[in-house]
Amino acid sequence: MSLHKHFVTDVLIVGTGLAAITVALHLPDNLRALLVTKGTRSETNSMRAQGGIASSALEDDHEAHRADTVRAAKGWVNPEAVEFVTREGRTVISELEALGVIFDRQENGEYAVGREGAHGLPRIFHSGGDQTGCRMMETLSEKITHPVLEQTVITQLLTSGGRVVGAAGYRGEERIEISARAVVLASGGIGGLLLTSTNDDMITGDGLALAADVGAELSDLGYIQHHPTILVHQGKSAGLITEALRGAGAYLMTRDGRRVMDHHPEGDLAARDEVSAMITAIRKQEPVYLNTTPVVQLAERFPTFVQKCEKLNINPELVEVTTGVHFLMGGIKTNLAGQTSVAGLYAVGETASIGLHGTNRLASNSLLECFVMGKALARQLQLPPRRTLPILRPIFGCEDGVSKQQLSEVLAVELKEDRLQAALEQLTNKSFRQTGRRAEQHRLQITTARLLLEGALYRLKGEQLTNEQMAPAATT
Ligand code: SIN
Repeated sequence: MSLHKHFVTDVLIVGTGLAAITVALHLPDNLRALLVTKGTRSETNSMRAQGGIASSALEDDHEAHRADTVRAAKGWVNPEAVEFVTREGRTVISELEALGVIFDRQENGEYAVGREGAHGLPRIFHSGGDQTGCRMMETLSEKITHPVLEQTVITQLLTSGGRVVGAAGYRGEERIEISARAVVLASGGIGGLLLTSTNDDMITGDGLALAADVGAELSDLGYIQHHPTILVHQGKSAGLITEALRGAGAYLMTRDGRRVMDHHPEGDLAARDEVSAMITAIRKQEPVYLNTTPVVQLAERFPTFVQKCEKLNINPELVEVTTGVHFLMGGIKTNLAGQTSVAGLYAVGETASIGLHGTNRLASNSLLECFVMGKALARQLQLPPRRTLPILRPIFGCEDGVSKQQLSEVLAVELKEDRLQAALEQLTNKSFRQTGRRAEQHRLQITTARLLLEGALYRLKGEQLTNEQMAPAATT
């Protein structure tokens, strides 16, 4: 085998979003890491994050943030995870500043914190207004000294004696194998599998399929968050409009000026799932608009939004909105050190599930989770002695499945059991024959689609996991 097809590292990190680079930045200096990504290193959801990062840094303690997280999640949480992330979250702003991130301040020098849905207090820190993800990622990515392989897809985890010991996949069209003492899946959510999504198209839930292939426990896959405000242009979705706009005074209305969330005690800042359900119901009859006229300094605070409107020749003061697939609450089950139920396999960020987000993630808790959990994972990583690369299991490709359109229709805000069942049946008993990058990527996506359909059915049938089952995965 030629050298360039076989890589050896201590820690293989799959992904280049905030969770991935936080792990890389916090690993002990004596460890080598290798980051891989399917596209370019900047094709991540973290780069797109507009809302900011939630932290109780300016409050007396993390209690109110903890309580808001539980309330938004409808209580369906692992209390230890909520406690851990919100408590550790108090120092993230100063830690990120120490790494070079600059957070927005008002003219008097105080932080310009904002509010978003279901937060009782303004505690969202921004960088460059609605460009937070991009600013953070550009600053932190520069600090990474570990190599990054772009255009590299992982299609299989390699196991030996019940332990994950590396991965195999393709760099371009070339087959590669990577021997690693630990594999960290930080490959994001599932939005790229569905239409009208805020996610990068690259993000197709590969981590879920890879983890399921080696028998790792997954949880809460039935909970997909639909963001309430996706810009509509000429009848088509044109990307995320940050919830921070509603935090700054914008409101949802119908054509005749009726306020859509007037009935709710929290108004336009109700939890995301509730706002999305209302918009979905109204849009069956008529369009829904976001009125941004109450927002002061719109162009300065929301440059991404205003520039997008200008590009599309839309007046930013009144825009039509729809809901869109945004975030997967469940994922690969881990403990608070990022360990999955399979030795040698770790997961972090959106692809992981520590039980923080319940049935509905609190706004701007995702960048927070990536940073807190990425750091915790890197600091507690337990590595075995180096081993030789095992023999690959045979790999199969997949012929065809359901279309993105069909899948989006069934994994919608309103779930219907018969349609989920039909889609699942269509994906069951698919032939897995071909090999090669395309076929193997397709197989991963079919596997993830099946997992999501099963998760949604499980949710509908009310067979929810008990709190006992939600306990963190056993330490391996
Ligand atoms: C948004 O800007 O509305 C999204 C932020 C988030 O998902 O937390």
